[in-house]
Formats: sequence, C-alpha cells, structure tokens
Amino acid sequence: MDRVWAEDRLSLIDKKLRTVIERNKGAIPAIAINGHYDNRADMTRTWNADDGLCWWTNGFWGGIMNQMYAFSGFDGYLEEEKTSEELLDGCLPSLFKGLHHDTGFMWLPLSVARYMIDGNEKSEDRGLLAATLLLGRYNPNGYLRAWNDNPETGVNTRGWSIIDSMMNISILYWASTELDDPRFAMVAEKHADTTMRNAVREDGSVRHITEYDAETGKYLREYGGQGYAEGSAWTRGQAWGIYGFANSFCHTGREDFLATSEKIASFFMNHMKEDGHIPADFLQPEEPHIEDSTAAAIASCGFIELYKHTNKEEYLETAMKMLKALDKDRSDYSPDTDNILQKCTGSYHGTKDREIGFVYADYYYIEALLKLAGKAIEIW
Ligand code: GLY
Repeated sequence: MDRVWAEDRLSLIDKKLRTVIERNKGAIPAIAINGHYDNRADMTRTWNADDGLCWWTNGFWGGIMNQMYAFSGFDGYLEEEKTSEELLDGCLPSLFKGLHHDTGFMWLPLSVARYMIDGNEKSEDRGLLAATLLLGRYNPNGYLRAWNDNPETGVNTRGWSIIDSMMNISILYWASTELDDPRFAMVAEKHADTTMRNAVREDGSVRHITEYDAETGKYLREYGGQGYAEGSAWTRGQAWGIYGFANSFCHTGREDFLATSEKIASFFMNHMKEDGHIPADFLQPEEPHIEDSTAAAIASCGFIELYKHTNKEEYLETAMKMLKALDKDRSDYSPDTDNILQKCTGSYHGTKDREIGFVYADYYYIEALLKLAGKAIEIW
C-alpha cells in the first residue's frame, strides 16, 4: 500500500524533473523562491559564507539525479549528475578554506552514489578525497570540528561540533569499507560516541552546536545555532540525530546508538502536532509560526530506518504521517515550477531562508519515497 503510493508520487516527480532539468541545465541549485531555483555553480567564495560553490547543499542536486536514475533509469539524470560532479571539483582542493565538515553531505549523494551506480573510478576518488578531508577535521579528543573560523566575525570555532555531522560521518564508514582501512570508521564511531554523550539531552532533545575545549576535549557549552535559542529543540537537528544515530547503529552494531536514535525519536513524536507538519523548532513561541518541511522529510527517512531496525509500527506510521502531510499540503508536482517541497526554513532567526524551497528538502523527500518503494541507493 505504502509502496504503491510512493511509486505513484515518484512517477509524478520523474515527470516534473525531466522539465526542471531542461530549465536548470548545468546549474547547482540550492534554494527556490517562487518556484525558481538559484544557481551556485558560478559563485566562487573562499570560505563558506551564505553562498558559493562550496555551499554544504551543493551535492544534493546531483544526488537527486542519482536517486531518480535508480527509480526510472532515465539517462538524462546521469548526464546532469556528471556536470555537477565536475563543477564541484572546483572545491577540491583549491578552495580548502571554503570547505568544512559537510564534505559528507556534498559528496555522498553525489560521487559516492554515482560510484554505487556504475563503479565510476573518478567518482570513487572524489568520495575518498572528501572522506579524507573530513578525517582531517578530527580532533583526537573525540570530535569532528564543524567549521573553519569565519574571517568576517573572528569567532574561534576550534571546539565547535554540530549534530549535523552525524550524517557527514557516513562518508567515513563508506571509505573504511572501500579501502579496507579501519581509520575512517574508528573516527566516525568516536565522533558518534562523543556526540551521544554531549549533544543529546536527558529528555531526548538535541543541541545544535556543542563546544569543547579543543585542547582537553572537556564539554564547555551549547549554542542555539539554527534553532530558536540555547536549550531549544531545532527540528532539523532532531531529524539529523534520529537518522544519524540509526545509521551509526547500522554501521557499528552498537545498541547504544540505536537507543539514542529511539530516544530522540520519542521526543520528536511527543512534540509533533496532529497535522504532521513540523515547525522550525519544537520549542519556538506560538507566533510567528515558522515551519520546516526539511525536518519532516529528513526525519521521515530516519523513522523509516528505525522501523527497519526495530519493526516498531509507530515509526513507520510517524514517517507516513509526515510524508502524507507534505504530499497533501506542501508539495508541487507541476513541471512549471522548479522545487517540490514548500515551507523549508534554514534557520529560525534567518530572514532570507524562511519558508522557501530547498534542494535538499526535495532530495530527502525523494529518498524517503524511494525507501518506501524499496529502490533507494542507500548511501548514509
Ligand atoms: N547542515 C546545516 C543544516 O542542516 O542547515
């Protein structure tokens, strides 16, 4: 039943995307305003400010191409994906200062997925280089440093680690298997362990930014980051936590990672509203009501994974509730517009990235549907 429904949605998306690609050939979209994608391909910046070639979401357009190829086998997807990979070579390695811990987000859906499709060696190399860059961000006190210092603000971020990295570490697990070299997976597991102990609160909610003493590894404090405030529960962060710890369980077999994913999932379910739509932060004030469809799409993937590992129906039901709500109220399958999902929010306090379209929201929506259809390229 869910499978038929998902296949039906994917057919609509396949039809839409063939036109959307024609309109955006050679572009690397990140956001959509009023149904029109932007293009990050020709924006070179030397550090990861709000835009540029090294922007953390720039692998998701190619990622959509790979996943949709797995669904329909349309060659146009692979052509477009190749362009994306070649464009992102501009970040490797000439823009070192522009890169960050998000090399997993950038090259897993892109090069690693492509390598899984056709064994392309250039794609494999890109994935391994991206994993090595991430490995280089490891602080031996047990965490991956998120960002380089921002020359514009001068803030010292040596000790900063963020929940989002729980997804990036999947490229480390992959590299270990690929190279038959435990170093990468050992770092991934250590980072997951440190994150589990410091970023996940007693009640199952998750901090966005955790700061450690870079010399000793002592936990110092949290920052609200993209959420409403310190102590709040940024929903995309909760989603990264559910999905990320479920994935780490899958790669390591560690039951405490699975239990952590379930703990965050329980907090998430207890704070969800009946309509299945997800706010930007579960602890945000009533007004203004800011929604984030990316959190719903990513969490759906995480809940489907949890269902797979535990067989608990409530997880599948929760994923279906969110996906059906997105489909009914927040999606646009018309070929006349570029993005699918609406009401995506980058950060609670952001002004330019509130309730718009995001390429990665569409990516995770598609990935969730493909999981239901049994056709996803499993990259995380
Ligand atoms: N990785 C940043 C975010 O989720 O917005």
